Amino acid sequence: MAGNAELVALTGKYLIGNYGRLPVAMVRGQGAKLWDADGKEYIDFFAGFGAGGVAGHCHPAIVSAVKAQAEKLFCVGNLFTNEPQVGLARMLSEKGFGGQSFFCHSGAESVEAALKLARITAGPGRYKIISFNHCFHGRTMGALSLTPEKFQKGFEPMLPGSVKVDYNDLAAARAAVDEETAGIIIEPIQGEGGVNMPSVEYIQGIRKLCDEKKIAMICDEVWCSPGRTGKWFAYQHFGIEPDILTIAKALGGGLPVAACVAKPAFAAKFVPGTHGCTLGGNPLCAAAGLATMELIEKEGLLARAEKIGQQIQNQIRAAKLPVVKDVRGKGLMLGVELTKPGKDVFIACLAKGLCINCTQDVVLRLAPAMVVSDQELAKGMDILLGVLAKA
Ligand SMILES: Cc1ncc(COP(=O)(O)O)c(C=O)c1O
Repeated sequence: MAGNAELVALTGKYLIGNYGRLPVAMVRGQGAKLWDADGKEYIDFFAGFGAGGVAGHCHPAIVSAVKAQAEKLFCVGNLFTNEPQVGLARMLSEKGFGGQSFFCHSGAESVEAALKLARITAGPGRYKIISFNHCFHGRTMGALSLTPEKFQKGFEPMLPGSVKVDYNDLAAARAAVDEETAGIIIEPIQGEGGVNMPSVEYIQGIRKLCDEKKIAMICDEVWCSPGRTGKWFAYQHFGIEPDILTIAKALGGGLPVAACVAKPAFAAKFVPGTHGCTLGGNPLCAAAGLATMELIEKEGLLARAEKIGQQIQNQIRAAKLPVVKDVRGKGLMLGVELTKPGKDVFIACLAKGLCINCTQDVVLRLAPAMVVSDQELAKGMDILLGVLAKA
């Protein structure tokens, strides 16, 4: 089997260089552990950009659901219905706000569906979508238009009517809405932007504003959900319901599953011919999604995310490290803001066998899978605190 160096060289030769990849090839995973092509073991506190956020790597419940489905039916197309897709949609509806689902594969695609749904519901002439500074909604042209300018460079022009205002500033959002506005898209907790927590009053204020102006409130929970923040969906921390919810990453237990979930009044605007995704909701991926949602319920993972998230925050605060400026987040969506750039910390952690992430230059992101064991957690925290103490 090829080692890290060989695989990294082949990657440089045959893959487009659009990712800032580390010189490591991962070959195996189990729960919150990973092994690279040279046999080195890692504790994974980032779970594949959140995609393994519920079940970690190769959870037996997900593996067996996928194996069983693979032996029955992979793909059938959406002219037919299929049982895993219905089961997953039902669970998203019942754990959420009674919405109806459209399935696709990535966060960006679920955002595109949400934008189209907001526009078609708002009607002719109402096309503007408000988003927020430090947000992230994806790389497709619609989603990119809503995302900060630094990601848009060279790809202009963006979608007309993409308006950005400051997060956690209700007056700014109110001032941005006009007769042409179709909706507001908001992350209930900003992920890529630095794990930024809004106030409850602010999110409630956005809900009220959308009701008043009869525009769609879209919660983009591609990072936050399902379950990561200690509730099925992050909006549930704020005592509101969105009109449209986008969800991806952890939903498929590591397989590509994304959904745009909408209240029936919005969902009804998508009729045959208005939107689609050939492989969206295919039985194989939907079975993984359903098994992931069931795992959260059966293993009480919401309470576990809440408990260990708090434990991690307490432990970092208790260490009173001069380099730590702030610790924030909900459940297992955590940010550790440093007094200086975090790249060296992140690289030193990797060298010692801990995978984390750094965003916005100074914010370390910790997002272990909800199934992380106490032992894995303790080992990962030892590495992190040891590295931070020397930073
Ligand atoms: C909140 C949010 N929305 C959308 C996306 C895009 O998701 P994807 O990379 O699956 O297209 C991301 C990705 O990080 C995200 O964090």
